[in-house]
Amino acid sequence: PTTRTFKIAAVPADGVGTEVVAAGRAVLDALAAGSGGAFAFDWTEFPWGCGYYERTGRMMDEDGLEALREFDAIYFGAVGWPSVPDHTSLWGLRLKICQNFDQWANIRPVHFHPGITSPLRKADHTPLDWVVVRENSEGEYAGLGGRNLSGRGPGNEVALQTALFTERGCERIIRFAFDLARTRPRKKVSSVTKSNAQQYGMVLWDETFVRVAADYPDVETESVLVDAMSAKFVLKPEDLSVVVASNLNADILSDLGSALAGSLGLAASANLNPERRFPSMFEPVHGSAPDIAGRGLANPIGAIGSAALMLDHFGLPDEAVRVNKAIEATTASGVLTPDVGGTAKTSDVVASVIDHL
Ligand code: NAI
Ligand code: MG
Repeated sequence: PTTRTFKIAAVPADGVGTEVVAAGRAVLDALAAGSGGAFAFDWTEFPWGCGYYERTGRMMDEDGLEALREFDAIYFGAVGWPSVPDHTSLWGLRLKICQNFDQWANIRPVHFHPGITSPLRKADHTPLDWVVVRENSEGEYAGLGGRNLSGRGPGNEVALQTALFTERGCERIIRFAFDLARTRPRKKVSSVTKSNAQQYGMVLWDETFVRVAADYPDVETESVLVDAMSAKFVLKPEDLSVVVASNLNADILSDLGSALAGSLGLAASANLNPERRFPSMFEPVHGSAPDIAGRGLANPIGAIGSAALMLDHFGLPDEAVRVNKAIEATTASGVLTPDVGGTAKTSDVVASVIDHL
């Protein structure tokens, strides 16, 4: 008899999303099969995404959020296809889930894998490992603003895109970053803003950072402007442990981080509702990659790493470590997809990870 069953909603959505979600599911199912009945995963797959939009005019069911609510977690692929405007597909599915389920903490580890060449020469001889903590509920992605506010029409349009910063929103993500830093070998938090140019929201963030930092005297801190931080990712990444930033800035920085590790296809992420009032969502950082979709070329490591973050969330940290070690063993043995210089297919990587489990 199975002692613990986790109910997971799979939302592969578009492009390589379907390929990498299938990959992650295969790894988790192999893990469960080998657990001697200690745990199992009960999957329900939802057909939402751009194909669904073409058929129904909606990115997800009208009562989709209600349906998702009862799950222990959501395992997400990627949303977006050239047939649907990107802001329609992103807001209609991924951002809708993140915002309605108050998944305010987006955790994006930047992890360097053995056997994968980083574009940073330094990575060959310097241990590098940091985590981007992204504010995931407000900031630049609050969805506030409007178009054609002047009423002057084409050629003279005016658009406003307003960023929202609340003291409560800043405080909870900054505290989250400090608590995370305390669990890491290097107890340091780097806060990222652009408060020299953006004098309201980002100054509120900076001041909140200083106030919260006082509660964590054992954690080192620094405040860095986002342009300088992007340079630091490249030039002095060994100085980073936890990097906390607003929605847009952290989105950009985490893509940079995953590229430095070798490929966008490697990066994992967790969208957490830390209070656990709603399900959290686990997804690779990358998008639907229409340029390589449907050919078995997608790197599944970001999605499999996201499954490991989900195991952590389920209270199975040892299993999460096992999955991450199996990923390392796979990259170390040279089973690599084309984005990281190999010739392996998605399915070869999955088979190798399962072998190493
Ligand atoms: P993308 O991440 O889909 O692709 C950027 C580049 O990285 C492409 O050259 C692609 O081939 C490569 N790449 C991405 N994932 C890969 C993987 N697993 N293995 C190997 N190579 C991989 O970003 P792009 O091109 O800007 O956006 C494509 C679509 O995805 C758009 O519709 C966009 O809105 C959507 N998108 C969705 C996201 C999400 O659902 N979380 C995040 C980012 C973009
Ligand atoms: Mg992104």
